[in-house]
Amino acid sequence: MRHISDRGQVILVTGAANGIGAAVAELAVTRGHRVMLTDVDEEAVLARARELGPRTAACALDIRSTEGWSTAFEAAEAAFGVVDVLVNNAGITHTGHARDLSPQQHRDIVEINLLGTITGVCTALERMTAQGHGHIINVCSMTSFLPLPGYATYCGSKYGLRAFHHSVAIEERDGPLDFTIIHPPSTRTGMLDQEMADPSCAISFAEKSYAPEQIAEAVVGAVTTKPVEVVFPPLAGRVQRIAGVFPRLMRRVIPMAEAKGLRQREKLLTAPRTGPSAK
Ligand SMILES: NC(=O)c1ccc[n+]([C@@H]2O[C@H](COP(=O)([O-])OP(=O)(O)OC[C@H]3O[C@@H](n4cnc5c(N)ncnc54)[C@H](O)[C@@H]3O)[C@@H](O)[C@H]2O)c1
Repeated sequence: MRHISDRGQVILVTGAANGIGAAVAELAVTRGHRVMLTDVDEEAVLARARELGPRTAACALDIRSTEGWSTAFEAAEAAFGVVDVLVNNAGITHTGHARDLSPQQHRDIVEINLLGTITGVCTALERMTAQGHGHIINVCSMTSFLPLPGYATYCGSKYGLRAFHHSVAIEERDGPLDFTIIHPPSTRTGMLDQEMADPSCAISFAEKSYAPEQIAEAVVGAVTTKPVEVVFPPLAGRVQRIAGVFPRLMRRVIPMAEAKGLRQREKLLTAPRTGPSAK
């Protein structure tokens, strides 16, 4: 197996034009890695890579496209050599209670967050196994442990992703690959702005949100430390991971958290903003 230094790895990041993916790309470059930025928004991702400089390249990738995945891996290889790390980050939400979303909106969430990410994992599995090394980092969500109002299908997609991730990691336990799954809590990106606009998602504001740079620190740190699973906040996240399996408890606790989130959301909406990540 080729020796891979902890620094200077080739990292392919999805959803890298904005939010957590953009913060991951920026931090990875700062740490000496070379980054292939990909996103469904081609113009935005090319612009982001130009800002980050010569240790980056960029191409369009809609993670729902099997061919797109092959093209993105080939583009990364052409620019930097084989991909050492895949950061499967791209994701979406459509806000609202399940009964208010259209069938297409439910389908979009599953096709992107679950099936798109699965397609990326399967592409990486084949290519990284053939090259004899690789690390797959899936960016999931704390909602993969908790049933949350306003997020029914989103939670379903992330529950599914976590189950898929750990199942594959066990299947591949004797192979050469590493697997990490990272669960951000509410993070101040465009996704949270979207949630702020809809009171049905108020539960997202029950607790203090994180900056995308804090999540990026965990993701880029994982390139070196290769943890199995990362939750936020470190202690409360572990409690949530366990509590989520008790549905009766959830039916009592989640409405209380939702009420707190509604109060917090009101405060945030009326507070003066002090910067782009001020929520
Ligand atoms: N922001 C949060 O509160 C939060 C919390 C937990 C988990 N997450 C997860 O973190 C990841 C990143 O979210 P974010 O908050 O940075 O969101 P974001 O909306 O800021 O950025 C998501 C990026 O993904 C891209 N994208 C959307 N659909 C795509 C597709 N089909 N193919 C490729 N790219 C696509 C978008 O163009 C965008 O650049 C997602 O998987 C999300 O579910 C976010």
